[in-house]
Amino acid sequence: MTQSHCTHLAIIMDGNGRWAERRGLPRLAGHCAGERALRRITAAAPNFGISTLTVYAFSSDNWKRPAGEISGLMNLLETHLARELGACLKNGVRLSMIGRRDRIPETARWAVEETERLTQNGRRLHLRLAIDYSSRDAMLAAWQPSCAPYDRQAFAERLNSPDVDLLIRTAGEQRLSDFLLWESAYAELYFTPVLWPDFNADDLETALEEFARRVRRFGGLPGQTVRTPTATAAESAC
Ligand code: IPE
Ligand code: IPE
Ligand code: MG
Repeated sequence: MTQSHCTHLAIIMDGNGRWAERRGLPRLAGHCAGERALRRITAAAPNFGISTLTVYAFSSDNWKRPAGEISGLMNLLETHLARELGACLKNGVRLSMIGRRDRIPETARWAVEETERLTQNGRRLHLRLAIDYSSRDAMLAAWQPSCAPYDRQAFAERLNSPDVDLLIRTAGEQRLSDFLLWESAYAELYFTPVLWPDFNADDLETALEEFARRVRRFGGLPGQTVRTPTATAAESAC
């Protein structure tokens, strides 16, 4: 039984489009409001002891959206990075991107890489933006023929992405949509009807309070010392 602390929070920031539609606004207005919510939550997260925050900003399947929405989102990414650089440097936030870098616009890639370089010494919070991200693709890219079967640790090192403690999805949908599938093997899942642009520090606190009430067992029994079988033991059991 592990009553652990939420070190790595992952968020599927969903509901921007619905937020805009409810106000009779274009979808992009919802994404702009979503960007403001991201800045609020980035500022609040370290106060709750979170050291890694991974947010789903654009999935590899989101390329299916209309061209105008996609270019609006890519421009918003550059705006976000320009706006956030000062706050990142001031507040010790290291910003990095996970996902494919070869398909996003060149100017967005440059902005990401410049921000990564300038914020690399941030130690208070590691903010990871998932852009053109697919967990299945990330796993396929990390896998190599030399990866030994059952060697989870070696594969996890190649994936270079920590296990998730708590995964929040806003806007009522209850699915993972190809986000951090490996890393969320034992994540606590929290779904809220709140649309992402409305999500604030109080909503985050509510989610973390719920997380604190969960009992994480990782397959064991309450009170048991965790012992992982060796690869040999796992193989001989088959
Ligand atoms: C999430 O909001 C942001 C992205 C996927 C880029 P949506 O745009 O999916 O909002 P809904 O689900 O249509 O409300
Ligand atoms: C997941 O949301 C991706 C992001 C939040 C960036 P979607 O809105 O794209 O997911 P589905 O299509 O509802 O599963
Ligand atoms: Mg959506």
